Amino acid sequence: MVPLRKPIVWITGASSGIGRAVALRMARDGWQVVASARRPAVLQSLASEPAIPAGAIVPVPVDVTDRSSVAAAVAAIEAAHGPIDTAVLSAGTFKPLRAASFSAAVVRELLELNTLGTANCLEALLPRMLERRGGRIVAVASMAGYRGMPTSAAYGASKAAVIHMVEALIPELAGTGVILQVANPGFIRTPLTDLNDFPMPFLMEVTDAADALVRGMRTDRFEIAFPRSLMVVMKAARMLPAGLYLRLMRRLVPAP
Ligand SMILES: NC(=O)c1ccc[n+]([C@@H]2O[C@H](COP(=O)([O-])OP(=O)(O)OC[C@H]3O[C@@H](n4cnc5c(N)ncnc54)[C@H](OP(=O)(O)O)[C@@H]3O)[C@@H](O)[C@H]2O)c1
Repeated sequence: MVPLRKPIVWITGASSGIGRAVALRMARDGWQVVASARRPAVLQSLASEPAIPAGAIVPVPVDVTDRSSVAAAVAAIEAAHGPIDTAVLSAGTFKPLRAASFSAAVVRELLELNTLGTANCLEALLPRMLERRGGRIVAVASMAGYRGMPTSAAYGASKAAVIHMVEALIPELAGTGVILQVANPGFIRTPLTDLNDFPMPFLMEVTDAADALVRGMRTDRFEIAFPRSLMVVMKAARMLPAGLYLRLMRRLVPAP
C-alpha cells in the first residue's frame, strides 16, 4: 500500500505577518509546512508554537534574494520531505519613497526582494512542478501594484512587476497541472504596516487575511484579493482616466 503523506506547503516570509499566519493556519489544517525566512531563531519559535501539532512546521532559513540559496533550499526540501505541493511566496517589504528624497537604492532594494526574490522562487519551483505535472504557487503582490500611489514609487513598481510576471506566465501553464496565482492584499495589520503613519482604509487583521488567502487557494482564480471592500474601491480607481486619478491622488499628498 502507498503510504499517505501530508501535503507539503513551502511558505516564504513565514517568520512574520501574513506568511506566519498562513503557516499556522495551514499547519492546523493538516499540512506539512516548510517555513522560510532569514531569521532562524524566529522560524524555530514558530515551529515550537503550542497551538500546532509537533513537527507540523519545519524551519528552512533562506534569503530569497540569493538565487543559488533558493535553488538549494527547494532541492533540499524536496529531498527531505517530498514534492512541494503548494508554495506561498510572501517574503517582501515596504519602504516609502518620496520625490524630494528619491533614491535608486530603495528602488533596487525593493525590486531585489519583492520582484527578483519572487522570480528566484519561481525559477526553482516551476521546472519541478511542470515535470511532475502538478503544483500550486501563490505569489503575494499587493493592491499597491494596481496603479501608482504616493510613497509607493518603489514598492508599487515591485508589486506591479510581480502581478505582470504571474499574468504573463499563466497562459502557458494551462493544461499543465500547475496553478499559478497572485494574492493582492490591501492593508493588513502586520509588523510591515505597524510603521505606517497614514490612514489605512479597511485595515484587515492578519488571521482574517490568512483565511482569505487559504480560501482563495481552493479556487483556480488568477487573483486572490482581500479585503473585498478595498478591492472594489481599488479596481474602480484602476478604471479612472489618468487625469482624474492623479487629481484624487494629489489629495493624499501633504501641501508643499
Ligand atoms: N501587510 C500589508 O498590509 C500588505 C499589503 C499588501 C501586500 N503585502 C505583502 O505581503 C507580504 C508579507 O508582508 P507582511 O505584512 O506579512 O510583512 P512582514 O510582517 O514584514 O513579513 C515579511 C516577511 O518577509 C521575510 N523576508 C524579508 N526579507 C527576506 C529575504 N530577503 N528573504 C527571505 N525572507 C525575507 C521576513 O522575515 P525575515 O526578516 O526573518 O527574513 C518576514 O517573514 C509582502 O510581500 C508584502 O509586500 C503586505
